[in-house]
Amino acid sequence: MSSKDNFTPNAYQLLDSGHGRKLEQFGEVTLDRPCAQAVWSPQFPKLWDHAEASFSRKDGLRWRGREKLPDAWTVPINGVTLKLSTTDFGHLGVFPETRGIWDWIRHKLNEARRRRETPLRFLNLFAYSGGATLAAAQTGAECCHVDASKGMVQWASENAGLNGLGEAPIRWIIDDVNKFLLREARRGRAYDAVLLDPPSFGRGKQGELYKIEQDLLNTLENVKNVLSKRPAFVYLTSHTPGFSPIVLKNLLRQLLPEAKHECGEMLLEGAPEVYPLPSGTWSTASFD
Ligand SMILES: C[S@@+](CC[C@H](N)C(=O)[O-])C[C@H]1O[C@@H](n2cnc3c(N)ncnc32)[C@H](O)[C@@H]1O
Repeated sequence: MSSKDNFTPNAYQLLDSGHGRKLEQFGEVTLDRPCAQAVWSPQFPKLWDHAEASFSRKDGLRWRGREKLPDAWTVPINGVTLKLSTTDFGHLGVFPETRGIWDWIRHKLNEARRRRETPLRFLNLFAYSGGATLAAAQTGAECCHVDASKGMVQWASENAGLNGLGEAPIRWIIDDVNKFLLREARRGRAYDAVLLDPPSFGRGKQGELYKIEQDLLNTLENVKNVLSKRPAFVYLTSHTPGFSPIVLKNLLRQLLPEAKHECGEMLLEGAPEVYPLPSGTWSTASFD
């Protein structure tokens, strides 16, 4: 299997993982990055020589070969085109394990739209570079994208332009999620579908500390207070160790007992013979 031969319009794939690392292809760029849960041995040791650059957290945060990469490049992933660029923290502007969520959201919003007269209102919290926001906007939903980082919100709105969604009805909000939710509830604003990907540890716009163990219950209550009278779904994901699929499902069952609940693992995936790499968990509460 050659990384270059497998280039497809869906330009992400996991090529291999092992020894605490993952080898991934993002369009024409192959990267080798840390991944604590890949405790097995690599399946295809020779492939790793194809990596243009690698990132390490040993001795501080460090890229090797970064100078060989373009400053930025674009890749189509599950129907959304994203600008990618190497950041000092080893991130690129996409968490590819969430790409299946974009398909699910498109499907659910399209289904729900067929049963309703007005467009659905979709809220993306901790929304990062906007993959899910743009998938929702592609269905004609009215979207609200919330992230505390001004740089990430700018990046996401650039991505909207790349997808011909520069004029789509998307509100771009730079704010702390809990402050935003409380304000929306006070104003009586409601949403039909909500996605939230709370970080283990994060900072709001004014440096407010977010700790998932302390803050998630409160965030979920705040989400409930902005749900419309006829919600379609709430989608909760996590990358925090210990927040297993059942933990997320229990949280949503308690919050929204009348919904239908499902849960599972988010995976990085490649060709069928490549071991899938667990990379977080998800749970959904759906209504329609
Ligand atoms: C792991 S990323 C989310 C990934 C994203 N959901 C995706 O699928 O691509 C976490 C994001 O949450 C944002 N964030 C962290 N704490 C926040 C807070 N208190 N309020 C709003 N955004 C926050 C960060 O700026 C970052 O973009």
